[in-house]
Amino acid sequence: MTQHLSEPASAPACCDGAADAGSTAASPTAPAGRRTLPLWRRQGGPHGSRSWATCFYRCGNACDKPVPNTTDNEHVQDVITKAIKRRTLLGGAAVGAGAVVLGTAGAAAAADNRWNAGGSTAGAVRGKMVSNDAFAVVPPNKKDALTVPRGYAAVVVAAWGDPVAPGAPRFDVYKQTAEAAAQQFGYNNDYVGVLNITQTKALLVANHEYTNEELMFPPGVYTDEEQRRIAIASHGMSVMAIERRSTSHGNWAPSADRSPYNKRITGETPFAVTGPVAGHERLRTTDDPEGMTILGTLNNCAGGTTPWGTVLSGEENFNQYFGTTGQIPADRATAFARYGISAEGSRGWHLTWDRFDLAKEPNEPNRFGWIVEVDPLWPDAAPVKHTMLGRFKHEGANVYVERNGRVVVYMGDDERGDYLYKFVSAERYDPATTNAARAKNKSLLTKGTLFVARLTGDGTEDGQWDGTGEWIPLASDNRSYVPGWSVADVLIDTRLAADTVSPTKMDRPEDVEPNLVNGRVYVALTNNSNRGTRFPTDEANPVGTSMVRPSLGAPLQPASGNRNGYVLEMEATGSHTGGAFTWRLLLVCGDPEAPETYFAGYPKSRVSPISCPDNVAFDSAGNLWVSTDGNALGSNDGIFRVFVDGPYRGATQQFLTTPLGAEACGPLITHGDRCVWVAVQHPGEGGTFAEPAGLWPHTNRYPRPAVVVTWKV
Ligand code: FEO
Ligand code: CA
Ligand code: CA
Repeated sequence: MTQHLSEPASAPACCDGAADAGSTAASPTAPAGRRTLPLWRRQGGPHGSRSWATCFYRCGNACDKPVPNTTDNEHVQDVITKAIKRRTLLGGAAVGAGAVVLGTAGAAAAADNRWNAGGSTAGAVRGKMVSNDAFAVVPPNKKDALTVPRGYAAVVVAAWGDPVAPGAPRFDVYKQTAEAAAQQFGYNNDYVGVLNITQTKALLVANHEYTNEELMFPPGVYTDEEQRRIAIASHGMSVMAIERRSTSHGNWAPSADRSPYNKRITGETPFAVTGPVAGHERLRTTDDPEGMTILGTLNNCAGGTTPWGTVLSGEENFNQYFGTTGQIPADRATAFARYGISAEGSRGWHLTWDRFDLAKEPNEPNRFGWIVEVDPLWPDAAPVKHTMLGRFKHEGANVYVERNGRVVVYMGDDERGDYLYKFVSAERYDPATTNAARAKNKSLLTKGTLFVARLTGDGTEDGQWDGTGEWIPLASDNRSYVPGWSVADVLIDTRLAADTVSPTKMDRPEDVEPNLVNGRVYVALTNNSNRGTRFPTDEANPVGTSMVRPSLGAPLQPASGNRNGYVLEMEATGSHTGGAFTWRLLLVCGDPEAPETYFAGYPKSRVSPISCPDNVAFDSAGNLWVSTDGNALGSNDGIFRVFVDGPYRGATQQFLTTPLGAEACGPLITHGDRCVWVAVQHPGEGGTFAEPAGLWPHTNRYPRPAVVVTWKV
């Protein structure tokens, strides 16, 4: 049966780049209350480029609900407001600190970066490394295609349904089973990691964040129960051996032999638990009375590949999988509310599995919301959930090894008004390549200290959007720094513990990743529709009112809130393990014609418009690469190269665009900057299986999420 879903009562803005203000042309008539309609009929309108389907499936309509953080802690927008002196936004001095040699190709790339110039590079091809190639900037578009610069090739490496595990059956969209799905490439790939085995062989690791049932299932073929069982098997992660015929190109493909490395991790795969909370009574359930084995990982969004060759993955909007028709225990109400967990159970999984029923198993939600670690190179090793890294809506986790050997993990909690975190290990990284060293490194995330960030503006007199920050300790493995809180309670109810120490409310922190070339840390803050309403603003604040485009080519229109997001740059004071840092805005995203936008002072006539930064990566020269989710400028999402040092600091160049309905995930730059990877998530969103709105990658009569590699030919 086709699944019908309750419509949200008001315009949800998860994937919050919604282009609503001033736009009524495509606004659907929102019902005042709940009624059953296929929500995918609700296209366009208040969501800008995001459909109702993404909000429902990906984050359980998080933004349609009250902001979970109701504390009085200062919001980053307030901090920025205090720090801002309205400056000349059209151009201005470069703010670069440090220097990366761009070379003539870099100079040509920056000078040639006019998105509306049709991508002419005038023979500017000077090499095959995307770090310094003057590629032809891809202009904004609404194509049902993955568009890359002229001279670049792109191939699908793995798509939903492709066989992964040895012996996996061939995919048939009309004969899907949970057993088959648990062996095939899952749905909605997000994080992409590539671990080299040799120069021509590697392991591809991908997250499968969530499922779009309306796109996956032909109408009338599957019961709701069957859909749920297939869906839980289509979540999780994939590890897949890949290879290429030559080191001179990027034409990667799955290895023919389906190596023993190949495996699927699903919403039902057993995970071991590490750190102070392992075995704690708050993790114990009927099926796991010892609190040591958790079935499955869910809503795995971004992640990070560690120096010891494992992959970290963030369990993000895990709240949506829980519900009940019974009574939620009264003593759980506060914690559940802070995490957006409610009886609603929008996916209905509590109707199939008791463990997702909040009345029957109120501890089960405590077993999700962690950073998980998977070891692709040791396929027999059980994946683990690291409780020492805290429990929240983890976007991802990225590692920096300080000179003293301690490991620092940077993390964001992707919710409007939530916080930035870091973890510092107690033990030191061992760079040896022995199995013993690797095993020891795999335990680094079990002991150390978890911190939350407070940002303070340093005043408006300097004309900079900047300030200082401090890392506030929350708990070590053997000590709580939050008065009245145990270590276990801090780590399980991390949001609530952090609320008590006055950290800074951020605008949906997505990826937080250190740049290994310049040592600074970059944060994608994707958007916040409530800026200027729930969170105070003033006229000087560049993100209090945003200029958006309801459709490609339409005039810019004002919209309330921070609709296009920004990129924050942090610099550790002395050491990444220390308690102090400085910060500044690198980008205030949007259309360069919009007055509030800022590109580190780089001339705005030479940058690509960018909206809703989500995931970040770096090439070997230290250039920042940004993928977007929810473009509020009427265009498809994409991936951008951004110079962060030298005279081109702030130059933003669109490298590719994803197909209709999709967001761009990853990204990843590998193999001497010759390969650019992107995960194309939810292509065709806004349509249904029966009435598709997009068919990318055009291999079937339905769209398929897929991981793509591009390279210069
Ligand atoms: Fe899954 Fe924060 O995006
Ligand atoms: Ca300042
Ligand atoms: Ca994301």
